[in-house]
Amino acid sequence: MECSTKVFVEGALGSKAQMSQPVGCLVVAFAGRHLKNPKKLTGLLASLNTATHGAIAKAMEHGDLDSHAGSHLLLNSTDAWSKLGLKAERLLLVCTGEDLKPAKSTKTGQEFSKWLSSGLKAVIATPAKDALWVFEEFSAKDGLSQARLLVQLAKEQLYKFGARHPSFKTKPVEKSPKLKKISLASTAKNNKDLQKAVAEGLAISNGMDLTKDLGNLPPNICTPSYLGQTAKKLAKDFGFKVEVLGRKEIEALKMGAFLAVTQGAVTPPQFIVIRHQGGAAKDAPIVLVGKGITFDTGGISLKPGEGMDEMKYDMCGAASVLGTMRAIGELKLKKNVIGVIPTCENMPSAHATRPGDIVTSMSGQTIEILNTDAEGRLILCDALTYVERFKPAAVIDIATLTGACVIALGGVHSGLFSDDDELAEGLLTAGKYSQDTVWRMPLDTAYQDQLKSNFADMANIGGRPAGSVTAACFLARYTEKYTWAHLDIAGTAWKSGAAKGATGRPVPLLVNYLLA
Ligand code: BES
Ligand code: MN
Ligand code: ZN
Repeated sequence: MECSTKVFVEGALGSKAQMSQPVGCLVVAFAGRHLKNPKKLTGLLASLNTATHGAIAKAMEHGDLDSHAGSHLLLNSTDAWSKLGLKAERLLLVCTGEDLKPAKSTKTGQEFSKWLSSGLKAVIATPAKDALWVFEEFSAKDGLSQARLLVQLAKEQLYKFGARHPSFKTKPVEKSPKLKKISLASTAKNNKDLQKAVAEGLAISNGMDLTKDLGNLPPNICTPSYLGQTAKKLAKDFGFKVEVLGRKEIEALKMGAFLAVTQGAVTPPQFIVIRHQGGAAKDAPIVLVGKGITFDTGGISLKPGEGMDEMKYDMCGAASVLGTMRAIGELKLKKNVIGVIPTCENMPSAHATRPGDIVTSMSGQTIEILNTDAEGRLILCDALTYVERFKPAAVIDIATLTGACVIALGGVHSGLFSDDDELAEGLLTAGKYSQDTVWRMPLDTAYQDQLKSNFADMANIGGRPAGSVTAACFLARYTEKYTWAHLDIAGTAWKSGAAKGATGRPVPLLVNYLLA
């Protein structure tokens, strides 16, 4: 069951038209500087102040509104309002902070989503069935990312796993929200940009919803084959080419590292290749590689029991590749993008890989598997060798790779590792604009020493110091033939605790990067 709230673009409306719309809630964002001079309000704010008999200026004078981002005030209509031409049942004023600023730095970006989500929460809490959100000071780039983010945050707050998958509880508890429609309007003459921003925001949100669903689904449902079927369905819906390889074909490719991870499992592994051909045939593609461990027990190096259920999220890299493909398919992106997903379970069994086993990866390099719980790098290294055949413009892998990355960066930034400054800058910028940020981590060859093995070309673990860096260094040994970046999303892909659930990250980051 889809959540039924829709987002529409109302277009360029004059302030008169905005006021005369009969709507459950009219939302107006204002810059904090208006508070310095409540007696001299301008634009839409001035018209609204007149229509409310000065209620806005009074609230400002009384300190009911202040200049911090997200400060808001909800007013209910009176008969007098409608006589003066204001037809909204409610009026919600939201302060954007000192000024409307684009997300140039992480800090202003955070302010940005703060006032948007605070406004959204306030609208959703009212019984209003529809809302009209007016962007008054709408200017090209910042307005665009504001509108895109608004759509994203609205869909975010309305995402309910239980409403989308009602069969997991015998008595469904999650009701669909009262708010059925949000319209965006701007006072700017040309609303083309706004329309584009909304379309992008919706595509990103739809991609994130898919990524979240796949992450949240239980591991007995969301198996490697389920991911394969999801890729096939996406291909049908959006015109992608898709190939799903099984164990025999993976063996034929000599993916010895990937096979070592899957060998303890009964559930068959899959290797998914999904292609969006939006550019010219000769254009080098951007390749996204996603870690798809549908459950990580650790294998023979078994994980402790507490919180192990969360290892169903170990396929969130794969899910973010599928979510990103969905978004660019919906947007008909004019670039070539290929998604590649090695997917299997990491299980202990009599057939499982033992610590100490030596395997040969597809690249020919041998690996001593000292810890079967460092399995992500093993499935990724073969996928990273496989993608050489595409002669890619760039390869970005996305993986819930290390607990060490959670310790380093927590749930705020994803870890970014790359030797290529241009690619790294592109990802850092896309992260700031989409509020799906990354933090650049080192990749110096000095860390490579930690991967030395007495018996093979390398070990699959490098000890506890700099654990997320040595994991990235392991992957770097397989990516020398092309431009590459690695995103460690172990801390950002899902939330634990009472709000346990997938976040849909880093779909906004990846789509923003691909759109740039
Ligand atoms: N999937 C885990 C990483 C992980 C752990 C992500 C906790 C999110 C939360 C990965 O496969 C793993 O087990 N990594 C080990 C590597 C170690 C054995 C070198 C880790 O981080 O402990
Ligand atoms: Mn593991
Ligand atoms: Zn794992």
